[in-house]
Amino acid sequence: MRVTPQQGRRKPWYFGIFAGLMSQNPKSHAEIARRRTFGIISHPDAGKTTLTEKLLLYGGAIQEAGAVKSNKVKKGATSDFMEIERQRGISVATSVMGFEYKNRKINILDTPGHQDFAEDTYRTLTAVDSAIVVIDVAKGVEAQTKKLVEVCRMRNTPIIVFINKLDREGRDAYDLLDEIEQDLGLKVCPLSWPLGMGVDFKGVYNLYTNNLRMYEEHHKQKRTPSYAVESPTDPQIAEYAGEEAAQELAQEVELVQGVYPAFDPEAYRRGEVSPVFFGSALHNFGVEELLECFVTIAPAPRPKMAEEREVTPQEDRFSGFVFKIHANMDPKHRDRLAFVKVVSGKFQRNTNYLHTRLGKKLKFSNPTAFMASKKEVVEEAFPGDIVGLHDTGNFRIGDTLCEGEKLHYKGIPSFSPEHFRFINNADPMKAKQLNKGIDQLMDEGVAQLFTLAQNQRKIIGTVGALQYEVIQYRLEHEYGAKCSYEPYNAYKACWIESQDDEQLAEFSRLKQRYLAYDKQGRLVFLADSSFSLQMAQEKFDQLTFHFKSEF
Ligand code: G4P
Repeated sequence: MRVTPQQGRRKPWYFGIFAGLMSQNPKSHAEIARRRTFGIISHPDAGKTTLTEKLLLYGGAIQEAGAVKSNKVKKGATSDFMEIERQRGISVATSVMGFEYKNRKINILDTPGHQDFAEDTYRTLTAVDSAIVVIDVAKGVEAQTKKLVEVCRMRNTPIIVFINKLDREGRDAYDLLDEIEQDLGLKVCPLSWPLGMGVDFKGVYNLYTNNLRMYEEHHKQKRTPSYAVESPTDPQIAEYAGEEAAQELAQEVELVQGVYPAFDPEAYRRGEVSPVFFGSALHNFGVEELLECFVTIAPAPRPKMAEEREVTPQEDRFSGFVFKIHANMDPKHRDRLAFVKVVSGKFQRNTNYLHTRLGKKLKFSNPTAFMASKKEVVEEAFPGDIVGLHDTGNFRIGDTLCEGEKLHYKGIPSFSPEHFRFINNADPMKAKQLNKGIDQLMDEGVAQLFTLAQNQRKIIGTVGALQYEVIQYRLEHEYGAKCSYEPYNAYKACWIESQDDEQLAEFSRLKQRYLAYDKQGRLVFLADSSFSLQMAQEKFDQLTFHFKSEF
């Protein structure tokens, strides 16, 4: 056999490592290191939209206040479909807001405020590398805050807390921190401390940089005066804030520093401790401190688990996953926009990538990037970036796109719906359109579809009642199909995992009426009450009842 010079030379053991390092492009490394992709989460009305807008103002991404429209579905919107369409228009424009700040490329991923769209928010949180939680100083921890933080904690997503509306009377700062620790399960570390509150609000002391910023209400858009001081006991503080406020601050900071450990940025990046800032987003106060600290401590894109292995951003080959699908607003063009988070390598325009689930190669001639509320075609994108891919029905939430090695990113979980209804075809001539419409809306993640094992009837499960009207409206306007609903009594949907075939067979026989398949063909138990669920769990101890679709 002829041996080529290449084959003949044995490679030393360290060749693989060396080759790996060589193959990583230094430009890509620098691009990855400067990306910060995060989401702002809050209970509706805590100030998420206002804070987003102020951050964009700092980044120069918008020029005036009021440019970011609230993506809230206003109260009473359930019967106002223009409002829903308006909302969809806003939400595609503000889905991703990218801007540059101090040589950082910052991507804010927007999350819907309305709790009926909570699933959408959960999915978006799978694409962030960190999160900022906004809490209203008067209301403290609210229901939606709890759910969203829980989702972040499942993934150890690093969280910064921003306590907002300090210009109003609110709760005591210590009580709030206690509540955050207890109700959200976060270990906190205050990095700023307020001087007074409401009418007595004087400013915030930045514990991270030893800096005092004085509050002046009329400085809504401008920067308020800021003073570098030596420490919280610096006599200069009394000159700026008055004797009484200075004394109070010194005492409080001493207490804070005694109670809370010194801030450890590494512990924050591991999701173990959450720095806390105080301010007033409306008055643009405390926002700059938040942003400055964020760009210093927030994590760059993080590795992600695929079924096969963990994938790091610095790897050479491109991979990414779909976390959101947005349907076109124009019913005549039924293409959709799939939002892909780049996990590794470099995404390039007009390059073939493997769609793992379909096993086919796709290339994209018009990938879109999002800068502020503008969309533009991009040639390349790096880990941490989000690209919008025009899609004619190939994508489903959770799909993986990759290059070279076949990867499957761990799916994006669906949670058990809260509401269930049968869906019926109300126009027999349009059965095909109805099925296609349901199929595509489910791929978009608008709701979940279950097919009863016994008779193949279709059940739609949703998080909120609003989705039923959205589905009905969109089926009619985008697919020309009509549907009606009928009540279906279910308490929870549980995905069934079995360690024992015999027990599964027995369970299937007894509970046949309550069994269904989800869109991926997985077995689901639609328990009709908490009692029957509990009984089933006790009786069938070799089965596991999961409340989310990934386990
Ligand atoms: P969200 O996205 O979290 O739902 O909240 P959003 O920013 O829309 O803020 C909710 C309300 O709280 C808004 O008032 C907003 O102006 C107000 N707000 C936000 N930050 C602050 C703050 O720091 N201080 C005070 N005092 N108010 C704040 P609104 O009356 O509902 O709306 P708008 O008419 O002012 O737009």
